[in-house]
Amino acid sequence: MNPKRKIGLMSTLPVGAAILLSIGGSTADTKEADKTAPKKIDAASGMIIAKNWQTVRAMCSSCHSPKLFTNYGGTRETWAGLIDWMQKKQGLWEFPPAIEDQILTYLSDNYPPGETSRRRNLPAYQRPPNPYTSEARAEYEKKLREGKIKPPLIEQKKDGEK
Ligand code: HEC
Repeated sequence: MNPKRKIGLMSTLPVGAAILLSIGGSTADTKEADKTAPKKIDAASGMIIAKNWQTVRAMCSSCHSPKLFTNYGGTRETWAGLIDWMQKKQGLWEFPPAIEDQILTYLSDNYPPGETSRRRNLPAYQRPPNPYTSEARAEYEKKLREGKIKPPLIEQKKDGEK
């Protein structure tokens, strides 16, 4: 082998190593960036684009605007309770378990409690029944629904009012 060529090869080695290292480094960086990157929003539906979002769009936006759930936030149990309530009271059909799992995972991952809720939570007595509620709370809510007692007065300010 021509000695000049050999030297040439040797000198490219460190460069190769440096490139490999920088590739390794940059994937770690992208992963880190993914966590903090703003979520991509589908312009038409306003939904966060993430795994299975199209399934959720198909299943959850035929009766009402997706805004109803993009403004909402909850744990997996909250979402499951809400779907249950729509199935019992609002004519929502049953989902095959695999589909329901995809829906619940998408909703609880992308619309967790607190973060995405832009309006004040509904008072408890207007929400679907909470399976974890205490008996006392359940009785209180039942009486509210039956109109036996009045809901607590929450001061509501109109727009422009100080
Ligand atoms: C069969 C029709 C139908 C489908 C499909 C449907 N919903 Fe609903 N949903 C309703 C009705 C009716 C209401 C009550 C609307 C209202 O109060 O104006 C409602 C209300 C809601 C609310 C508001 C609840 C509140 O407390 O204000 C959310 C959130 C919601 N739906 C999410 C979903 C999700 C998520 C899906 C998909 C799994 C879905 N909906 C699919 C009928 C449906």
